[in-house]
Amino acid sequence: MPGWWALLAAPALLALALAVLSLPWRPPMPLSLAQELEQRQRDLRSLTQEAFQTLHPSDAHAERLGCQELSRARTLGLVGFGITKLVLRAALPSRGGGGGGGELVVALKALHWAGSDVAACLRRYGHRGGCHRLATYKLLKEEVLLQSLDHPGIVKLLGQCSDSNISGPEMKVVTMLELGTPLEMIQLLQTPWEERFKICLDLVELLYYLANSPLGSIGLLDFQPRQFVMVNGTLKATDLDDVTTTELSCQEDQDCILEFPTKRFALQCTTQGKCEGINEKRNLFNAYRYFFTYLLPHTAPLTLQPILKDILNATGDLRYGANETLRAFQKVLHLYKSGLYLQKKTSHLKEYIALKQFHSADAEDYKCWPSYSHLRCMLSVHNAEEAAAICSSHPQCQHFTITPQRTWTGRPLALFHSNLSDLIPGGHMVVYVKQSAASRKSISWGA
Ligand SMILES: Nc1ncnc2c1ncn2[C@@H]1O[C@H](COP(=O)(O)OP(=O)(O)O)[C@@H](O)[C@H]1O
Ligand SMILES: [Mg+2]
Repeated sequence: MPGWWALLAAPALLALALAVLSLPWRPPMPLSLAQELEQRQRDLRSLTQEAFQTLHPSDAHAERLGCQELSRARTLGLVGFGITKLVLRAALPSRGGGGGGGELVVALKALHWAGSDVAACLRRYGHRGGCHRLATYKLLKEEVLLQSLDHPGIVKLLGQCSDSNISGPEMKVVTMLELGTPLEMIQLLQTPWEERFKICLDLVELLYYLANSPLGSIGLLDFQPRQFVMVNGTLKATDLDDVTTTELSCQEDQDCILEFPTKRFALQCTTQGKCEGINEKRNLFNAYRYFFTYLLPHTAPLTLQPILKDILNATGDLRYGANETLRAFQKVLHLYKSGLYLQKKTSHLKEYIALKQFHSADAEDYKCWPSYSHLRCMLSVHNAEEAAAICSSHPQCQHFTITPQRTWTGRPLALFHSNLSDLIPGGHMVVYVKQSAASRKSISWGA
């Protein structure tokens, strides 16, 4: 166990967690509430000590935002709230700005005083100070985890501020995090498959990390889409207060039942008295039921559908662990990126005339689904051949262009057009015109 000197080297946050742990709380307080507080204190203490062992030396010197920056924050609005915490969007003056500098827009997380977590505690115990402290432990636990876990799938902790009077009953803690946008499942269902696949892949990469984290295999106990946000197109977990870093203890296999509303799994109790892989398995089944079933199969390329079905079956039956699931996702990604998923059917491209140095007017046109543009039909393609096959399958399509825009996989976006009179000479693009459309218009461009 690290000595007091470790506090000096430790990042401020872990130091704060340890400092809070050593503070007494003021009686009188119902005995059961005091016991619950003690339990949370013990959990936080052991997590904090574990986190000390795993911290990278560079973490000790990481520059973090603190109370000074927070005092100059400009609140921009509420982004969300859950049962325990409230999240605000705020602009902080960026460091070293000297007055003329820009602003850093962040998420501020604090205890939701009127949230159902504190309310339930108050109903039960009627002790405001104790209940606030009980809920604040969750915020501190989340902070310790955010500081010790380092993965693109976990929201980044930028800093924190705690009320200087932390010994008071209403100890106030605010964390500063990178700002994301809450996940909207309904909206996601309307996005192209490639984007939905990315979200599932991000999640699988996170689950692989959690299964092999420096703190051991981590189970997300409150696994729901609303515990995740999107930051610059990447899925990130933000709610880490309800997680476990230890596998469930057991005496026999009967103690290792993993139960969900629609399924139950009987796991094995190891000779060390732990339910084998229960955290990893719980995470995977939740990923299957909340994410994969909705986002993965729908409008996927035809040839990838059997593989995606296998992934769904294997994760839904817990035959795959995080490792196998990640490998299966990587295989799909490879098939997709390389174009190997394309069926080698007859070429459609030969039905098109390639017009160099032409482009299409930037006008509204026919729409297709699921388009990358609200105004036009814009889809991701492997190459001009795939775009030609798509254009041939759309009765409205008369010509298409391959734009320089790329999706996250590096595939180009193609624009499909219905109106030949939109064609304008000039530029560096190539416009592929359906021969039948060109001859109907009796147009000769001399390509
Ligand atoms: N970094 C963030 N950026 C944007 N929104 C966030 C961020 N973190 C959380 N939120 C939103 O705030 C809500 C509440 O945060 P959360 O940590 O889940 O609190 P609780 O523990 O009360 O559920 C989330 O459901 C999410 O919509
Ligand atoms: Mg939450």
